[in-house]
Amino acid sequence: MSFEDFCVNSMAALHSPTHVHSHMVAKLSVCLARHLLALRPELFIGIFDTETAGAVTSIADRILDHTWHAALCHDIGKLLIIDTVAMYGRSLLDDEYANLRLHPDAGADLAVKHLSTRDYADVIRGHHLWYDGTDGYPSGFDRDGSPYRTIIDIVSVCDCMDAATDSVGRSYSRGKTFEEFEKEVSEAAGTRYAPWLPELFRDPGTRKDLLYLLDEGRSVAYRKTYALLRGI
Ligand SMILES: [Fe+2]
Ligand SMILES: [Fe+2]
Repeated sequence: MSFEDFCVNSMAALHSPTHVHSHMVAKLSVCLARHLLALRPELFIGIFDTETAGAVTSIADRILDHTWHAALCHDIGKLLIIDTVAMYGRSLLDDEYANLRLHPDAGADLAVKHLSTRDYADVIRGHHLWYDGTDGYPSGFDRDGSPYRTIIDIVSVCDCMDAATDSVGRSYSRGKTFEEFEKEVSEAAGTRYAPWLPELFRDPGTRKDLLYLLDEGRSVAYRKTYALLRGI
């Protein structure tokens, strides 16, 4: 078993909502990456030493594969602080929240030690940083200097999208509609979120796929996690 598989399976055993969340973020991220590669391939220039939009398009499958695995691993740092994550419907205390904020660095430090996860360290470390670098955590990581910066942008918004719209696994808050979340993204485009997101969300094909994943796709994700736990 690879270290990546070990981490993902451990999440299912220790805190199944985080396992569902990881799969949802992976599915949503691949969806956004696939549509963005078709609409704005130039945004990925720099990844895997690409210098042109044509070069990006020619390795689209490799970029999507990277997006899937990086998104699946984005919260592996939570394995080290799983008791804090398993908060059983209550709000976090201040010191618990401070502890939780360590999970991007903890996850990235863990990822670089293993062959199956080391390439995803930048996405793991950067997924809670704002697009413009003015907020979020951890401080000191140069997300703009990463060749994976557009994947970081994608995983970052999909992480928030799943958390905001899930009303199954996060019983402490009502799930927002996609439209409510979209409004938040529009208001924070260029600061917290990437500036190209509102246009991507308005694309009919992207929107249709996202709405499916947030509805039926989420039910599938929950059923798969519970089937895994039952050994089916
Ligand atoms: Fe996270
Ligand atoms: Fe997350």
